[in-house]
Amino acid sequence: MSIIDCKLIDLPKIPDRRGSLSFIEAGKHIPFIIKRVYYLYDIPAESDRGAHSHKTLQQLVIPLSGSFEITLGDGFNKQKYLLNKPYQGLYVAPMIWRELGNFSSGSVCLVLASDFYKEEDYYRDYDEFLTAVQMGKI
Ligand code: TYD
Repeated sequence: MSIIDCKLIDLPKIPDRRGSLSFIEAGKHIPFIIKRVYYLYDIPAESDRGAHSHKTLQQLVIPLSGSFEITLGDGFNKQKYLLNKPYQGLYVAPMIWRELGNFSSGSVCLVLASDFYKEEDYYRDYDEFLTAVQMGKI
């Protein structure tokens, strides 16, 4: 996997004078079936999150409210994204190191995930992640 496999995905947006509406249908707007949803909120200024990779998990990260930055790395290249549109998500492929930061006040980060929470799917140590990438492990 490389950071080229990660991309911004535009979600449907229905503007209305009463407010905008976006929606996501499993397997239709995103390239995986959603098994889990979680969200980050009450995030203190200067907080950093992430700093891990997943062995097999696919995710879509959506800034439901506010903005934050996410830096993706595949062990060779890095790319930083500013997420600030609730109708646009960032698809994060497996074996991609991600770091989230610069959260705006009151921001909410929604994550759609392709599997249940499994601690054994994580690389939380960067050197261990790099070794796995170099050995071509998934
Ligand atoms: P972690 O993945 O480290 O959060 P982040 O990537 O945002 O920094 O998870 C923080 C804690 O929450 C950790 O103890 C595992 C737990 N957790 C769950 O129990 N279920 C979940 O779906 C997630 C994402 C985390």
